[in-house]
Amino acid sequence: MAKCTKSLVMFPILLQTICFLLFPQPLMSQENNFVRQPASQLIITPHQRSNSEPQQVHISLVGKDKMRVSWITEDKETETMVEYGTKAGEYSEKTMGEHTSYQYFFYNSGKIHNAVIGPLEPNTTYFYRCGGLGPEFSFKTPPSKFPIEFVIVGDLGQTEWTASTLKHVDKSDYDVFLIPGDLSYADSQQPLWDSFGRLVEPYASKRPWMVTEGNHEIEIFPIIYPKGFEAYNTRWPMPFQESGSNSNLYYSFEVAGVHIIMLGSYADFSVESQQYEWLQLDLTKIDRVKTPWVITMVHAPWYTTNEAHQGEGESMRQAMEELLFKARVDLVFAGHVHAYERFTRIYNNKADSCGPMYVTIGDGGNREGLALRFKNPPSPLSLFREPSFGHGRLRILNETHAHWSWHRNNDKDAIVADGIWIESLSNLKACSETPNQQVAHQEL
Ligand SMILES: [Fe+2]
Repeated sequence: MAKCTKSLVMFPILLQTICFLLFPQPLMSQENNFVRQPASQLIITPHQRSNSEPQQVHISLVGKDKMRVSWITEDKETETMVEYGTKAGEYSEKTMGEHTSYQYFFYNSGKIHNAVIGPLEPNTTYFYRCGGLGPEFSFKTPPSKFPIEFVIVGDLGQTEWTASTLKHVDKSDYDVFLIPGDLSYADSQQPLWDSFGRLVEPYASKRPWMVTEGNHEIEIFPIIYPKGFEAYNTRWPMPFQESGSNSNLYYSFEVAGVHIIMLGSYADFSVESQQYEWLQLDLTKIDRVKTPWVITMVHAPWYTTNEAHQGEGESMRQAMEELLFKARVDLVFAGHVHAYERFTRIYNNKADSCGPMYVTIGDGGNREGLALRFKNPPSPLSLFREPSFGHGRLRILNETHAHWSWHRNNDKDAIVADGIWIESLSNLKACSETPNQQVAHQEL
């Protein structure tokens, strides 16, 4: 098995090397005197604990005050149990969970454990241990009220740039990590899911990571795995049932006055689909007094001026944009395109002060490198665009105001390259009524 794992892991490295030798990548374009970064080496993060100790530990929010702890052991006998408490080394609570595993061709996963712990106090540090063995971890719960800060970055992968992005993220505090798809870039090589889990554990075990799927999570193989998402759904379960969804591929959750809708670019989104029906219902449940901010995440961008992946999000935009517009969604974040781009507020390809602001943040550090070419002349809807690795931060200060910033990676520090203040649409009188209501008033 170890030999098989090694050869699977070596394959992309060999492929990368051959591709690089045959088609060496230029050192990127130079605009604004900034040298764009080239793609970097894959990082394989080895398993360095005993087979009974937890690895790939990560946490995610469940409901108002609970946390799902997820981890994997090679040893199938290890107990699915989390001990936790607010003092290091002292565990006043203990919760049992459930375990599962999956098979993908000749690969058999370890024992995948999930335990939902809580109720937990907001803005509080908890110490925890998984399965009664191994290292102690700790996390901080998000606040119950504003301010709250989200880190947002898609298309992470597991390269030296990914490691650089995560280090930059870790330099200043935040509450919740949001990923609009493309996590491990395992692309069916299952040991790379394990390697990714180990790479992100130091970060994903101490702040909740909430994810939605990208195309690199699909892993469909005709006849044998026709539905795909075997590894993604098993390793990264999200709280979809809590929002009335019947699929881990789309769901919503609320945290500290923010309603977050995680859409699925790779689940059916047509007007007859279950996802569409679920979204319609979910939007009707939003109470803008309780959650003045509404954010949506999707993988393939609905708006992009990059030459990469042009048109891939268009059919989803046509199906769902009106629903988000009428619900006065504040912000839509996407990944997929490996660059950063911030748009103005848009509805139906036109600037609209009551539409969502669109951001593409697919620049986490994947092995495919950057999407270098933007279309020219630039669209007046696109206000900032740059093909560099980095991450975004959304700090929501209160019911009405938030600050969005993009932090470009360079060799030493994360540079704040773009920033803008945003006002919630729930606070803008001109947008407080739906277009249909406005027309009715005018007619009166
Ligand atoms: Fe993608």
